[in-house]
Amino acid sequence: MAFEFPGVTGGSPSFREALRLLELVSPADTTVLLLGETGTGKELAAQAIHANSPRRGRPLVVVNCAALPEPLLESELFGHEKGAFTGAATRKEGRFQVGDRGALFLDEVGELSLATQAKILRVLQTREFEPLGSNRTLKVDVRIIAATNRDLEKEARSGRFREDLFYRLNVFPITLPPLRERREDLPLLARHFLVRHCEKHRKKIKAVAPEVIHSFQRYNWPGNIRELENVLERGVILCQTDTLTLRELPPAMQEYAFRPGAQEEAAGAWPDLERELISRTLQKVAGDRGQARDILGISQEELDLKIRTYGLDY
Ligand SMILES: Nc1ncnc2c1ncn2[C@@H]1O[C@H](COP(=O)(O)OP(=O)(O)OP(=O)(O)O)[C@@H](O)[C@H]1O
Ligand SMILES: [Mg+2]
Repeated sequence: MAFEFPGVTGGSPSFREALRLLELVSPADTTVLLLGETGTGKELAAQAIHANSPRRGRPLVVVNCAALPEPLLESELFGHEKGAFTGAATRKEGRFQVGDRGALFLDEVGELSLATQAKILRVLQTREFEPLGSNRTLKVDVRIIAATNRDLEKEARSGRFREDLFYRLNVFPITLPPLRERREDLPLLARHFLVRHCEKHRKKIKAVAPEVIHSFQRYNWPGNIRELENVLERGVILCQTDTLTLRELPPAMQEYAFRPGAQEEAAGAWPDLERELISRTLQKVAGDRGQARDILGISQEELDLKIRTYGLDY
C-alpha cells in the first residue's frame, strides 16, 4: 500500500526526508517520537503513521498531556475504580486500555510531570499497570507515538525530563521542519489551502497574486502550517474578486511583500538593500540577533554570516 499523508507533500528536502522516515516507520510497530515546532503537522503525522500501520483496524487513542491537571491525567491514562477518589462515581477505563492492540498518541509529552513520567515508563517497560484505586494489574499491547515541541534531549540532560523515559521514546525520532525552512513549498501549500477554503466557504477564487506568495516567502511563520492555513482562510473570506491579493492578508504580513526578493537579487541591487535592511533591523532591536533573525525571517547562521560578510558592527 502506498503511504498516504493527508495534505501536501511538497518538494523541500527536509520535508521529504521526514516523509521518507514516516513511511518507513509506519509498518515497523516501533515507538515514534515526533519533534517539531507548533503547527508543523505532528498530529497529522501521528494519524498517518497509524493509518499506514498493521494496527489501523484498532483505534489511535489521543491524549494531550498538557490539557489535564495531574490527578485527572493519570486517571485518564490508567483508569480508576469506582470510589478511587472524590468524584470517581463510576469505574473508568484508562486510555492505555482503550488503545490495547492499537496505538496511543501522547501529545505534548514534554509537559508530563516527573511522577507521571515514572508511571508511563513502567508501562513501556513491562506493558503492565494498575488503574487508580485498584490492585488488579492489567496488561496492554499498545504502540506509543509521542510528540513534543520541546528539545526533549536537552530537558533530559537538565533533569526536567526522565532520561530513561527519553531513551524509551527516542527510538525513532522524526523532526517535522518549520515552514520557514521549506519556503519552496509555499506556492503549493498556499494553492492547497486556497482550494480547500474556497470549497468550504463556497468561493470562486482562481489565483493567489505573486506579491502574496512573495510576502509568504519572506515571512517567518512562527505558527507554521497552521498559521498559513489561517491566513488563507481569512483571505478567502475577505476576497471579493477572483484573485487573492495583499489587501486580504493581515496588515503585519503585507509589509513583507515590499522586501526585496529574487528579482532584485538577480538585478544585483540586492546586496546594498540587504545590508541596509539588516543594519536598520539590528539598530531597531539594539543588536539583539535573536529578534533580528525573527523579524528578517532568516536563520541564525544566515544572519551571522551576513553580519560578517557585510562587516556590520554588532
Ligand atoms: N503536510 C500538511 N499538509 C496539509 N496540512 C497540514 C500539513 N501539516 C499540517 N497541516 C495542517 O496544519 C495544522 C496543524 O497541524 P497539526 O495539528 O498536526 O500540528 P502540530 O504539530 O500537532 O501542532 P501543535 O504542536 O500546535 O499541536 C492542521 O490544521 C493540519 O491540518
Ligand atoms: Mg498537536
